[in-house]
Amino acid sequence: MKYIVLGILSFLFGASFFSPYSGSDRSFMPEDSVTDILVKLGDSPVLDKYPIKNNPRISAAIGEAIVKQGFAETPDGKKVKKQSKHFVCTSCHNVVKEDPDLAFPDPQERLEYAVEKGIPFLQGTTLYGAVNRETYYNGDYDKKYGDLVEPARNDIREAIKLCAVECAQGRELKGWEVESVLSYLWTIDLKMNDLNLAGEESDFINEVLSGKDDSRADALAMIDSKYLKDSPATFTRPPADRSIGYDYEGNPANGELIYEQSCMHCHENERYSYFHLDKHKMSLRHMKRHIGGYTRHSIYQVIRWGVPVKSGKRSYMPQYPQEKMSDQMVEDLRAYFEAS
Ligand code: HEC
Ligand code: HEC
Repeated sequence: MKYIVLGILSFLFGASFFSPYSGSDRSFMPEDSVTDILVKLGDSPVLDKYPIKNNPRISAAIGEAIVKQGFAETPDGKKVKKQSKHFVCTSCHNVVKEDPDLAFPDPQERLEYAVEKGIPFLQGTTLYGAVNRETYYNGDYDKKYGDLVEPARNDIREAIKLCAVECAQGRELKGWEVESVLSYLWTIDLKMNDLNLAGEESDFINEVLSGKDDSRADALAMIDSKYLKDSPATFTRPPADRSIGYDYEGNPANGELIYEQSCMHCHENERYSYFHLDKHKMSLRHMKRHIGGYTRHSIYQVIRWGVPVKSGKRSYMPQYPQEKMSDQMVEDLRAYFEAS
């Protein structure tokens, strides 16, 4: 609400008039929201991205419970049906920063960062900073979901609703649940210290915020250049000859990291899947034996095509676009299985 009012007033009267920073000597804090600072610099906020709190049930806490547990109890004590039998949103999405450099996301760097932070390495893009993006289900996702992607491309509510049904294979979210998820996503928006600003860049932005420098457009452009407004996705095929694989030398140590941070996140003890994988020889040899084959037990098959919903079991495995796993990384995983 604060933003909406500030936004409308800034729009009507010019941001500098209402900016609490103008004329003062204040500088931004590392934990300040990027969107807040953009608005203070004169950017007009996208009003329809903010939750509409027209129901007392709507809250960020409820949204967080839906994302992490699949359901939440409402303040009026109403039990809510679990959103999906198979998944929670965090089966496939992190809810913290997952890329060390938000302007140049790279799967290998993300993997190393995931190991360092102890977070999984997944097919879905982190929900952290989702509200800072402008388009959703980018790139080749329209090949997978067709016309369903159309309304979700530019609309975060539609993206949330689409994913609940199509990705999580669950029931539709109610209006107040969508607004609650959106409220939660606003608590995990990008913060200024996520942008890796160099010292002189921070100084410059602070000069503009405090009114000593009036290069607002430059300050906005500088912040803009520090993170992507979309999460790109390129689907590619398995190699032509699976016994040969992609044309890269695999690194088994890196493959082990992929196995632990990614495959085991869902498969260990059948956490989000009916298929168990662990680090014992049985699992590793099973995966090794099927590499060159054309069944859904070949890593090339499952990584590049995913595993479709089987009749009766509305559970499936999302594929990894290149941006989530490069061909080199697939060969690293292969090398790990082959070394077992
Ligand atoms: C089975 C895996 C899976 C589950 C479960 C899942 N998602 Fe997703 N989600 C994806 C994939 C894959 C995409 C494709 C785009 C991307 O994230 O890169 C996606 C996309 C999204 C996007 C758009 C992100 C973007 O930048 O394109 C949002 C928002 C989203 N999901 C929210 C949710 C919410 C909320 C839930 C829980 C109700 C959920 N998802 C459950 C796999 C999943
Ligand atoms: C987001 C969760 C998730 C991740 C991450 C994931 N899987 Fe899966 N996987 C599934 C689900 C769900 C299925 C569907 C079939 C099922 O539930 O058994 C599946 C199916 C499979 C199957 C076919 C099993 C069968 O009998 O049909 C294989 C093999 C497989 N995954 C291997 C992998 C490997 C290798 C990785 C890592 C590169 C991986 N998975 C990562 C969730 C995941």
